[in-house]
Amino acid sequence: MEMLRDADIDPAPLVGKRVAILGYGNQGRAQALNLKDSGIDVVVGLRGGSGSAFEAEAAGLTTDLIEEAVRSADVVMMLAPDEIHAALYGEIEPFLREGAALGFSHGLSIRFGFVKPRGDLDVFMLAPKGPGTALRSLYQQGKGMIGLWAVEQDSTGNARAIALAYGRAIGCSRAGLIASTFAEEAEADLFNEQAVVWGGVPELLIAGFDTLVAGGVSPEVAYLECIGELHLIAELIEARGIAGMKEAISNTAELGALLGGKRIIDADVRRRMAEVLAEVRAGRFAEELREEERSSYPRLEQARSEARETLLNQTFRKLDDTRRD
Ligand SMILES: NC(=O)c1ccc[n+]([C@@H]2O[C@H](COP(=O)([O-])OP(=O)(O)OC[C@H]3O[C@@H](n4cnc5c(N)ncnc54)[C@H](OP(=O)(O)O)[C@@H]3O)[C@@H](O)[C@H]2O)c1
Repeated sequence: MEMLRDADIDPAPLVGKRVAILGYGNQGRAQALNLKDSGIDVVVGLRGGSGSAFEAEAAGLTTDLIEEAVRSADVVMMLAPDEIHAALYGEIEPFLREGAALGFSHGLSIRFGFVKPRGDLDVFMLAPKGPGTALRSLYQQGKGMIGLWAVEQDSTGNARAIALAYGRAIGCSRAGLIASTFAEEAEADLFNEQAVVWGGVPELLIAGFDTLVAGGVSPEVAYLECIGELHLIAELIEARGIAGMKEAISNTAELGALLGGKRIIDADVRRRMAEVLAEVRAGRFAEELREEERSSYPRLEQARSEARETLLNQTFRKLDDTRRD
């Protein structure tokens, strides 16, 4: 594996070029501000009447309507939600300059065919491995967030150089840039979201909380045990790896983890994980995402409102209020 850092990357391919950032959400805001602070000419492209225009301009950024931003740019980054990329690309294609570069921060739209870019474009991915808020705060601290890069289409012969210069300008190569592909990044990311960090872990925490409460433990103690300790293990794994984390905890906790961990995450769980990966690769989730958008997000809305009403969330709010007092 090749890990590229600032010193390995020529910033020149973006010098004198204009970058249009489409969308001023989690990633759009962070990437636009990091680019500006790296001396790049940036314009944020927004739909008419967007509530984000005032905020972007207050942060010192130039904004324009999507069509005008695209027309003026050498590099266009698709930083609106993935599920609207097909419609957004259809809207901007007539305004993309001949030989422009089209960038993504997630491989999904290309891997699953939401976007089929025109043949004259360079198409690259620069996917920071974390949320935009952290991408921005790390940059401001003089640090960076590790990122994956890929080239899907190299019409001008400059796609690799542009992708890497872009990764440097948003601060990722301060930490490191790793070569990947749109397919690898999209499949691994969707798998993780469903089966591991964002899907599996919260359900494990909820199941643990519910089990303790059903066993007569108070919600507050159940919350502190099952959920309140999560940041401790995350910090230990970040600093020392999984083996180092186990050495850092008490013998009691280590033996408990040894005896209990594989009972919970057993062969059946691994089999279902493999099923999730196969379904992701078959494009089933990508279709679910588009359907959810087409029907105005009913499952997401319902799940959000149900989660707000749970005993677990009430306990979180109670403990959070106490902490603030
Ligand atoms: N979230 C993350 O931390 C993260 C991490 C790595 C990669 N990514 C990738 O980065 C990309 C952007 O994700 P995100 O989470 O940053 O998105 P997001 O926060 O949901 O994006 C919101 C922005 O998109 C604009 N937008 C929404 N619908 C639009 C439409 N129909 N037409 C034009 N603009 C529209 C919104 O415009 P208004 O301002 O007008 O509402 C807003 O500025 C995705 O490909 C995602 O997979 C995200």
